[in-house]
Amino acid sequence: MAVVTILPSNKTITVDAGTLLSAAIIAAGEPLKLKCEGKGECDTCHVFVHEGRKSLSKLQRKENEQLDTIVGVGSKSRLACQATIGDENVTVELLGFSSGL
Ligand code: FES
Repeated sequence: MAVVTILPSNKTITVDAGTLLSAAIIAAGEPLKLKCEGKGECDTCHVFVHEGRKSLSKLQRKENEQLDTIVGVGSKSRLACQATIGDENVTVELLGFSSGL
């Protein structure tokens, strides 16, 4: 189990290990858009991970390549639809922008 804290709303949700980060964010009631339906092919689920990055599944090549196409990407960036939560608590920031697809 891990607690996911979502900024800027500060909502929290407790989820089982293995839960997709995007699913946790949506389950917490946040309006996360999944324009490509979670295929890792857009940027609508781009979040910054402030705490618990090591709890998340490793960045895979496809996600890394997609992140490279996103303006404003940083070392804390993840695509929420591609990251699975582990056992440690995670704090993420929703970025609230999208360039569309
Ligand atoms: S929903 Fe498109 S990359 Fe995550």
